[in-house]
Amino acid sequence: TRTLDLAVIPGDGIGIEVVEQGLLVLDAALAGEDVTVRTADFNLGAARYHATGDTLTEADLEAIRTHDAILLGAIGDPSVPSGVLERELLLRLRFTLDHYVNLRPGRLYPGVASPLANPGEVDFVVVREGTEGPYVGNGGAIRVGTPHEVATEVSVNTAFGIERVVRDAFARAAVRPRKKISLVHKHNVLVHAGHLWRRTVDAVNAEYPDVTVEYMHVDAATIYLVTNPSRFDVIVTDNLFGDILTDLAAAITGGIGLAASANINPDRDANGKHVAPSMFEPVHGSAPDIAGQGKADPTATVLSVALLLEHVGMPDAAARVQAAVAADLAERPVLSGRVRSTAEIGKELAARVAG
Ligand code: IPM
Ligand code: MN
Repeated sequence: TRTLDLAVIPGDGIGIEVVEQGLLVLDAALAGEDVTVRTADFNLGAARYHATGDTLTEADLEAIRTHDAILLGAIGDPSVPSGVLERELLLRLRFTLDHYVNLRPGRLYPGVASPLANPGEVDFVVVREGTEGPYVGNGGAIRVGTPHEVATEVSVNTAFGIERVVRDAFARAAVRPRKKISLVHKHNVLVHAGHLWRRTVDAVNAEYPDVTVEYMHVDAATIYLVTNPSRFDVIVTDNLFGDILTDLAAAITGGIGLAASANINPDRDANGKHVAPSMFEPVHGSAPDIAGQGKADPTATVLSVALLLEHVGMPDAAARVQAAVAADLAERPVLSGRVRSTAEIGKELAARVAG
């Protein structure tokens, strides 16, 4: 019997509701397999912060590290000053566990309405760098509060950091039918980082001659994502551009209620074991405005569970979850306005997975 040890971080707001459904579907997906799921809940987020002042302690991190993967709901609450939980909890997890591949599929499932009139076939994946760029917190402000205030946020881009995420993007593109990479940056203005990204992509491309590469400035990418999203297969980009583009990607593929993500550290030790747990979470936030009302769509979390299963080497279970979501989405138009609660959707997905 294999054991799957999961660290569960429900977090804040609707995070708590959607994670419950994600776990329900996960259990259903593994019911027929010789796998025992063990979960450990971590009380992190606004409630813990208010109760103890802690965001993420060393002890939390050490405990989380021992698990095979992390399932996270959402972090953030208006009662906590902006940036505290984001930086000290969510980004600290991504940085400390070295989640350098932030994987965000952009897929328009049959039956799902897109705000685009003619979206065509949309099935791409964004490989967003996860540990560098302007997210490192390198910068500061002087003369704060005066008319002469100066604020800087320095984007850090290392050859090492870019190469490893670019390699991951090529490996993914190489096994997809279209084998195409779009490097998105802004090298006409961000000259230093832009050219390092470009040179790195060209160098790795030499090892993958059958992968086609196109270069696109990020402003142009926002146009194409709206006018012709079918052209994209694998997008590789930096942390901030990837953040922005993946919200747009979610918007054109049915909204953030459906957008899944994986924060992956693909590295393995000499025994083939992952060096750190990867973390799976919906792209959406804690949505305090609808929290506690059973209104949140757990589908993004359920699709993140599929990414988790794939990552831990359970592709059949992952495929069953994916198929259940696809079937559910295909039937939504005929629900003709019947609004299902978070728990109802979760229960129906679990039933489909169980077959
Ligand atoms: C996301 C979020 C985070 C990010 C925030 C909450 C730090 O927007 O996961 O996309 O910018 O990465
Ligand atoms: Mn975001």
